[in-house]
Amino acid sequence: MTFTESLTLENPTTASPGLPPQTAGQTTGQTTPDQTTTTTTTTMRPRRLRRTETLRRMVREHHLQVEDLIYPLFVTEGEGQREEVPSMPGCYRYTLDLLLAEVQQAYQLGIGAIALFPLIPHHQKDNAGTESYNPNGLIPRTVRAIKQAVPDILVITDVALDPYSSEGHDGIVQDGQILNDETVAVLVKQALVQAEAGADFVAPSDMMDGRVGAIRQALDAQGWINVGILAYSAKYASAYYGPFRDALDSAPKFGDKKTYQMDAANAKEAIKEVDLDIAEGADIVMVKPALAYLDIICRVKHHTNLPVAAYNVSGEYAMIKAAAAQGWIDEKKVILETLTSMKRAGADLILTYFAKDVALMLK
Ligand code: PBG
Repeated sequence: MTFTESLTLENPTTASPGLPPQTAGQTTGQTTPDQTTTTTTTTMRPRRLRRTETLRRMVREHHLQVEDLIYPLFVTEGEGQREEVPSMPGCYRYTLDLLLAEVQQAYQLGIGAIALFPLIPHHQKDNAGTESYNPNGLIPRTVRAIKQAVPDILVITDVALDPYSSEGHDGIVQDGQILNDETVAVLVKQALVQAEAGADFVAPSDMMDGRVGAIRQALDAQGWINVGILAYSAKYASAYYGPFRDALDSAPKFGDKKTYQMDAANAKEAIKEVDLDIAEGADIVMVKPALAYLDIICRVKHHTNLPVAAYNVSGEYAMIKAAAAQGWIDEKKVILETLTSMKRAGADLILTYFAKDVALMLK
């Protein structure tokens, strides 16, 4: 069978479908029916549904909406400063006063949630990440201020030790190993301090085993039953996190994160991690990174009824920005196409540094 034949169907009664041949095409832009088609076949024409923008909009399967977006933000100590992250042009580390204006603006654009990440001064870092559960630390202070200034925006706080770790790891280090259960005990303290400060969701991104369950239990025991858990369930050991580690000065001091973050070659293991996090009490599960893991987003979406989030990470942002700066791609179109691909794969929510840009584009 030829390719053309495979696209035709037998139809003995109709000579040509749709508009009469004499009016089709010229005025509407519709393809002229092929006069050489025999009277016994009907050509299937998927292009009919792509004819005009109005029609394309009507049959569109997936929609990127401002409601889907979560805006990650970097906060730093001080006042009146806004410092651009060199590998993330257009992204800044804000001091709290300027961060509040940024959050306000995001909320006015329709963005419903932010995810906070702190740049911690070196002298406050240690192996056990002690500063992570200081009730007057940068993150608790920031959460309280945001909750006062923009009470309706959802505040999501990251639970992990890396910004606080002198070793640049997500857990406590001993003899070159990352300790699991000892780390979980610290993560629990960190999550409680964040809940106390007013976080709506805590988001464990550390990939220690059992942390979601331990955090859920502790939150419930302290009465924080309405504080949710956005679990970084399938978080891969990825080279796409480079610019983020520049932003927070949090790159590992030795080795890599492969003994806790997932191997890029694994898919079934993502489902195992998701199942565990759901059993332990996660409210939303996340796949991270997003772009190189669209298949994982798709599998996870089919596997669970929980909302699925995807993290359009720093390296994905940096690649688009770099190519656009060279004039090699159309930045806006590539952003929309990329984020739409995540929706199509099954993401309900997308963490993206493009959140404000997209909110403006969708207006
Ligand atoms: C750390 C954390 C990382 C990111 C979010 N939380 C980096 C890492 O695991 O090393 C990456 C986000 C990004 O690259 O945009 N717990």
